[in-house]
Amino acid sequence: MGRIDTLLAAMTVEEKIGQLTMAAASLAVTGPAKLVDVAEGVRAGRIGAVLNLWGAEETRAVQRLAVDESRLGVPLLLGLDVVHGHRTIFPVPLAEACLFDPALWQKSARAAAEEAAMDGVAMTFAPMVDVARDPRWGRIVEGPGEDPWVASAFAAAKTRGFQGDDLAAADSVAATAKHLGAYGAVTAGREYASADVSERTLREIYLPAFAAAVAAGTAAIMPAFNDIAGVPMTANAALLKGWLRDRLGFDGVLVSDYNAIAELLEHGVAGDIAEAAALALEAGVDIDMMSGAYAKGLPEALRRGLVGMAEIDAGVRRVLALKERLGLFDDPYRRGAAGSRDEGGEASRRRALAREIARRAIVLLTCAPGALPLSPDIRRIAVIGPLAAAPQEMLGPWALAGRAEEAASILRGLEAALPDRRIDYAAGVDIAGEDTRGVPAALDLCRGADAVVLCIGEAASMSGEAASRADLGLPGRQRMFAEAVLDLGKPVAALLSSGRPLALPWLFERADAVLATWFLGGEAGHAVADVLTGRFNPTGRLPATWPRDVGQTPIFYGQRQAGRPAKAGERYCSRYLDLPVTPQFPFGHGLSYSRFSLHDLRCQPSRVEAGESVEIAVTVANDSGVDGEATLFLFVRDLVASVARPVLELKGVRKIVVAAGERAQATWRLPVEALAFVGADLDLVLEPGRFEVHVGQSADPAELLTSVIELVRSSTTSSAR
Ligand code: BGC
Repeated sequence: MGRIDTLLAAMTVEEKIGQLTMAAASLAVTGPAKLVDVAEGVRAGRIGAVLNLWGAEETRAVQRLAVDESRLGVPLLLGLDVVHGHRTIFPVPLAEACLFDPALWQKSARAAAEEAAMDGVAMTFAPMVDVARDPRWGRIVEGPGEDPWVASAFAAAKTRGFQGDDLAAADSVAATAKHLGAYGAVTAGREYASADVSERTLREIYLPAFAAAVAAGTAAIMPAFNDIAGVPMTANAALLKGWLRDRLGFDGVLVSDYNAIAELLEHGVAGDIAEAAALALEAGVDIDMMSGAYAKGLPEALRRGLVGMAEIDAGVRRVLALKERLGLFDDPYRRGAAGSRDEGGEASRRRALAREIARRAIVLLTCAPGALPLSPDIRRIAVIGPLAAAPQEMLGPWALAGRAEEAASILRGLEAALPDRRIDYAAGVDIAGEDTRGVPAALDLCRGADAVVLCIGEAASMSGEAASRADLGLPGRQRMFAEAVLDLGKPVAALLSSGRPLALPWLFERADAVLATWFLGGEAGHAVADVLTGRFNPTGRLPATWPRDVGQTPIFYGQRQAGRPAKAGERYCSRYLDLPVTPQFPFGHGLSYSRFSLHDLRCQPSRVEAGESVEIAVTVANDSGVDGEATLFLFVRDLVASVARPVLELKGVRKIVVAAGERAQATWRLPVEALAFVGADLDLVLEPGRFEVHVGQSADPAELLTSVIELVRSSTTSSAR
């Protein structure tokens, strides 16, 4: 008998259910507080997994209880939300998405895994790969933005980064792709609400990133809190069993979200805890995170015949198999062992990576000619606003092991970068609240300055979980303050710290430059200084369409055209009476200190059949005197199909360095199968006909180069999407 069979044969029912039970240690609070006696539960074999614990000593101590003091000595699975770095905090995922760079996405996950593993962590509840098209939803900050192609690339890169080449290695952690599915589509952007999306949208928009995570070998997946059309994801057998396990062949662990199994009662689909436990287990959920529903409900569910021992055993097998893959049976202390402590250069290597990623995440939203980089003639700079000297905020949400005292604020970064200038600081107002007593002094500083760096936005706690907002403006008295600063007529570069696009048309209109600086992590200040001083030429691009007004949300580029598309001067068309339909900034938008133009889009061949591919090439010219990096997006549009297709669908991205005055070529090979879509019967179909191929620097239709290809034969594929 193998190890897993032997253990299963030796386990009592209570011990089996223990393997399916995850309890929180008290180090961090990531859900409604509950007191669980973890030590006693571990000793008794009633707890097989623990979350929210890190640190070599701390994890070793609790692991010892399992290995040395429980009857069967099965090691614990120790999980933690390592969402954008562990000790070294990287930019929040939405900011990292602005890089459009899978290699760097993978590197930051690798660095995070190394650090978390050193702290004894074996599993992360990341990556979060929920497509989000509604910036009211606070969790848009945790994921890769609005596009399924980007989300899939992000999911694969992060999974590889966390898990490394060998999941058993001392520096690898199990990834958990979350939260399946359509969590980003909650009604009106309101956290935890119901989502009601069509099967087609589910398959085309919300599920592909999870399929990509599975293809990349993710060890675990977490179902979301929400229901889809009345079926809570925690009990969604059709998606978890039917799609994920049976169709995609996922045989890893499904871990519930925090307390989600017990919440099936609140959802109104279970009458008591035994029914809730049975629904989740039947749907394929292996680990009950923090609800105690399996411990309380499964014995009763067994008695009532709602579940069988075979289902419990199947869950236990998957959990034990994960522990085995992680090498926990061979050496439960491998992660966090003395030998793997951080060596001198490693921490600074990770900080350097965090700075590189942070400066690449900055999106230059607007810039009047000559406004940036800051000219050497500017001798006196007023760095003002409530986010100027706010290191804790720079870390953003989900920075559990991050340390504010190690984070560089914007003020600190600028002081370090510009030692020969005079830099004055005042907050002016708080992030939220009504206190305006600091305003006069801050305005005085601005009056005496040659230029103002205005640091405004949200607190880190205003995005992330349980942080939906109905208003996309600046909280507190920041708008009043910012307008008073703008009224002074000084050159103003505004830095927006936020976990979502903010609708601030007045700012974009009036400031000389505005930069989206999100929550950039521990190196935030240095990254900002690199861009403001021109040491680094901005290259970040928006992974989510930026609305003018909250009334435009949800908003995304890949809409269907409708029978009456928006048309200037036409009443009966798809538009608003009181707002343009166009966004403030399109998906992919982001300026550079260079200026690029695109020429000569070519597609070879222009007539293709299934199984073939199209070579696409475009020339990019740097028309400026500054070396820079261009970002090119490849979109397609299916002109006539059996179901209406989006006006643009992303199929590729290229980042390409072009020296001042030079030209370069960007190329793609587009397999014809990439033109398939979810047809009327919900299978993937490739339909013949004409497709527009577009290349541009964003999804702005006015700026796209266009060519046409023709697919001359159709087929139905039986893909696992
Ligand atoms: C969140 C998850 C997270 C879990 C554990 C939940 O409230 O939705 O994303 O992984 O807590 O902290």
